[in-house]
Amino acid sequence: MEIKSVMIIGAGQMGSGIAQVCAQAGYTVYLNDLKEEFIEKGMAVISKNLTRQVDKGRITEEEKNDILSKFIHSTTLQDSQNVDIVIEAAVENMEIKSKIFKELDIYAPAHAILASNTSSLPITEIAAATNRPEKVIGMHFMNPVPVMKLVEIIRGLATADEVYQAVEDMTKTLKKVPVEVNDFPGFVSNRVLMPMINEAIFTLYEGVATKEAIDEVMKLGMNHPMGPLTLADFIGLDTCLYIMETLHEGFGDDKYRPCPLLRKYVKAGWLGKKSGRGFYTYE
Ligand code: CAA
Repeated sequence: MEIKSVMIIGAGQMGSGIAQVCAQAGYTVYLNDLKEEFIEKGMAVISKNLTRQVDKGRITEEEKNDILSKFIHSTTLQDSQNVDIVIEAAVENMEIKSKIFKELDIYAPAHAILASNTSSLPITEIAAATNRPEKVIGMHFMNPVPVMKLVEIIRGLATADEVYQAVEDMTKTLKKVPVEVNDFPGFVSNRVLMPMINEAIFTLYEGVATKEAIDEVMKLGMNHPMGPLTLADFIGLDTCLYIMETLHEGFGDDKYRPCPLLRKYVKAGWLGKKSGRGFYTYE
């Protein structure tokens, strides 16, 4: 299974990061979103990241232009007919993902792998929307994608061994480290991370300490690069809530019950860094 071209669906925070690392690894990248303006926004972030690399002397201006020339803008899933793998990074909603995968199954060539960057939704259920469940797999990148080394690779119930192998090989070409996991709610990353963040929110909710104190304890005491409340703002509080709900529903265990304060913030539109306010405020 030789992979030369890739389609990334979603030009947001995760999609543009994945597109950037794919183009830097030499793949032709179809960057797909609903509207050209969303793609332009994603390309502006990619271009800014590459300029920073030029300024730091890591790549030349010529290499930057070469990377940018790898991109093809796409506003239709029909373009998936030209690629060997699709990596979907659209919104975390099963109905939307199923619809996208159903459409990809029509247009993408028979050999094409269909991957999802979902952070917690079942790969097996996404795969069931297609007639090629053996070619459907999870490729869960971490934020910020250009910096973080991990890609969690999730096998659905029917994922073929050669598909897993091709995705693992591709991940290494992106200079990332693949880690294999099976398809259970939250996989490994969010099953461990999100309850910690949720517990930090309970700690704030119950008045155990201030938000600054909670973050400081975890930063200095556990050597985490950022405290859990800052990290929650960085990930997006709506995403944190969605993942906690997926864990709660998936396992049916109250130990995954989302903190009422998290629900309250999301209802208020305090979604973290992206909305200008979460546990902290942002310019
Ligand atoms: N895009 C590209 N590069 C970025 C970046 C971004 N958004 N943010 C930071 N960087 C780069 C900087 O340019 C800098 O590069 P150089 O070292 O080459 O100069 C480097 O990262 C370090 O940046 P800073 O010095 O500005 O800041 P920092 O040392 O605090 O690092 C950080 C920033 C890497 C984000 C660090 O704070 C960190 O590791 N935070 C935790 C990140 C984390 O836990 N991510 C996982 C989130 S969970 C997830 O993604 C899964 C999910 O499903 C929810």
